[in-house]
Amino acid sequence: MPHPDLRLLTDLDREHVLHPISEFRTHEKKGARIVTGGEGIWLELGDGRRVIDGFSGLFNINVGHGRREIADAVHRQMQEVAYYPAFWDFSTEPAIRLAERIAGLLPADRELGHFLFTSGGSEANETAFRVARAYQAVRGAPGRNKIISRRHAFHGITRAAGSATRLPAYHIFTSTDSDHIETAAPYCFRCEFGETPDRCSLECAGAVEETIEREGPDTIAAIIVEPVMGTGGILVPPDGYFERLQEICRAYDILLILDEVVTGFGRTGRWFGMEHWDIHPDIMCFAKGVTSGYLPLGGLAISDRVYTAMRDDTPEGVPFMVGLTYNNHPSCCAAALANLEIVEREGLVTNARVVGEQLRKRLAEELADHPKVADVRGVGMLVAIECCEPGGKEPVGGEPMSYPAEVSHRCYDRGLIARALWENVALAPPLCTSPEEADQIADLVIAVLKEIG
Ligand SMILES: Cc1ncc(COP(=O)(O)O)c(C=O)c1O
Repeated sequence: MPHPDLRLLTDLDREHVLHPISEFRTHEKKGARIVTGGEGIWLELGDGRRVIDGFSGLFNINVGHGRREIADAVHRQMQEVAYYPAFWDFSTEPAIRLAERIAGLLPADRELGHFLFTSGGSEANETAFRVARAYQAVRGAPGRNKIISRRHAFHGITRAAGSATRLPAYHIFTSTDSDHIETAAPYCFRCEFGETPDRCSLECAGAVEETIEREGPDTIAAIIVEPVMGTGGILVPPDGYFERLQEICRAYDILLILDEVVTGFGRTGRWFGMEHWDIHPDIMCFAKGVTSGYLPLGGLAISDRVYTAMRDDTPEGVPFMVGLTYNNHPSCCAAALANLEIVEREGLVTNARVVGEQLRKRLAEELADHPKVADVRGVGMLVAIECCEPGGKEPVGGEPMSYPAEVSHRCYDRGLIARALWENVALAPPLCTSPEEADQIADLVIAVLKEIG
């Protein structure tokens, strides 16, 4: 059933609402797609249609739509105390319980035991940079200010997090801060060193060391990396990459900040992306899947080593100078606790691994002969189909939109949200996707790709 006020809402949206990653003129012409409800992997729209949410919103609706128990948990918390700041020594039960809960989900040998919650991923990364710089300063290296990030990285869009984001599209009208330095990325399909997987000797990790040497090790506070680069195009690093990166960080006393905003809480088929490669970060940032988007929440965990240094080496009388009004928000933490309970009870981490593998395998097999499909990759519930001109690596030209955008549009017309990410068609369905639903998604994408040719 179409929403009774669909027309009015569309007009009002056009008149008053701005949308990220949209062109104003196109939006005025086309109008908004108004979301009215959802259940599981399905989304209900104002025009009465139902579509599959094949990207979990923005990689985040891990438990799927319509989970009443999260709403109930938030309702209960709001009736007790909806919000109080976490500044100074104030605390609330949900924040305490959530910190303890996540500490218990992380592999014990990572020793990531102290948490600060934010309202999202950008804020978590911003705060991580502050912590890294403070850590270096209290240990006697105040000149260690620079943050290294990698080409194709996405770490958010606020000032410092945005400077660590190294996708040119985000910097058309904004410069990046000069204390943010770019290095190579492990984009195997488009290896910037011209290597192939059989000849790779981890040149992209070696390039990090060259960057450090060039900039001067004594000027660098930290490097920030995603375990699997999400927005950059679902880039899975080669084996050995993280081991090498960690050696370099240790050798130069540079903190490793792991951005698990996309990969955390089951998305990759493990609780955390770090588990695929035995990564031991000094700081881990997260957001998205921690609440499945039911309320905004992100955060960071710092390792015992960093915590101890900050505690013992900070001069007396100097407090931990971070602080966002909504740090450790109790209602958002209550949503996270209820969400994690669902992930655990329903075995969604394992489901993401098994069903994600099924989806990727089917796409890889059935698109193997497609002239414009050059690579199908991913891990867990993250899948990218990289599209190129036949036989090469040139992006597929297309008018008026790119080939992946056209695929995405046609998928939507047939009832599936799939996202165009640069040269890729990307899928990241909710972790609760069943094997049958994964087949339905695969059928649809394969049909569209074959139809366009
Ligand atoms: C890896 C990564 N880090 C950080 C962010 C920023 O998170 P937020 O949009 O919650 O600020 C994102 C958002 O997509 C992300 O993908």
